[in-house]
Parts: sequence; structure tokens; C-alpha cells
Amino acid sequence: MKISIINGPNLNLLGTRETDIYGNKNFATFYESLKSHYQNIEFKYFQSNIEGEIIDYIQKEGFSSDGILLNAAAYTHTSVGIADAIKSIESPVIEIHISNTFSREEFRHKSFISPVAKGIIAGFGLDSYRLGVESIKALKDV
Ligand code: DQA
Repeated sequence: MKISIINGPNLNLLGTRETDIYGNKNFATFYESLKSHYQNIEFKYFQSNIEGEIIDYIQKEGFSSDGILLNAAAYTHTSVGIADAIKSIESPVIEIHISNTFSREEFRHKSFISPVAKGIIAGFGLDSYRLGVESIKALKDV
């Protein structure tokens, strides 16, 4: 099983960025523990602060991944381009958020990703990604 994880802008700063909201663990450390927990899954990871690079990566992985976990970060609330990319591929996309975006500022309540995602997981800290893996496993019935 192949799962791609895509993180959008500023998520490269996890561990130091707004730690009251996003916690103090960096993504590299979390990613290592995720991979060792799921040794039978082939993970790919991509992070970019650039919208077009995220679109390119969705197009690249969207026909071979069993599922994509996408935390589009701030682009969640702005990007028609990322939403269109999701509509153009075959792999199911799970929208991931570390924080519960609905308990935050109103501009975070709008998501361009949600209508085109298979499902949404938000508010469980970095564990949102593990729950995302479980959701793709459940979709694939393994
Ligand atoms: C986020 C929530 C977004 O609103 C925000 O812009 C982020 C991170 C989250 O994971 O909680 O950068 O996607």
C-alpha cells in the first residue's frame, strides 16, 4: 500500500511555530514514528510553501497512491487550483488538519478542499495524520 503525505505552507516549521496550537513536535520526528508503526506501508512525504509545487505533486502521485493525506494549511482556505487538482486525479484525498479549524477564526471555516476530499480529519494534533492512515486502510479494507 502506498500513501503520500503532503504538507502545505509553514508546516515545515512544526515544532517551533505557534506551539500552543500546533504542539512542539517537529514533523520529521513524527514521520519517523509513523513509518516505523506502519512498516508495510510505503510512505512518500512532500512539503512545500508554494501552491504550484503542491499541485504538481498531487498530479504526480494522484494516479499511483492508494491515498493522499493532504494538509494544505493556509491554502485550504484559498486554493481553487489545489481543489481542481484533487478533482483531476484518481487517488482518494483525505483532508488533514492538526487543529480544529472550526473552533478557530471564521476565515478558517471555509475550505476549498472539503467538497472534493473523500473525508476530513481535524483537531487531533499530529495524530490526525495517523487517523488519516487508518482511514485509507479502511477504504482499502486491509
Ligand atoms: C492547519 C490549519 C490552517 O488553518 C492553517 O493555516 C495551517 C495549519 C492545521 O493543520 O491545523 O497552517 O491546516
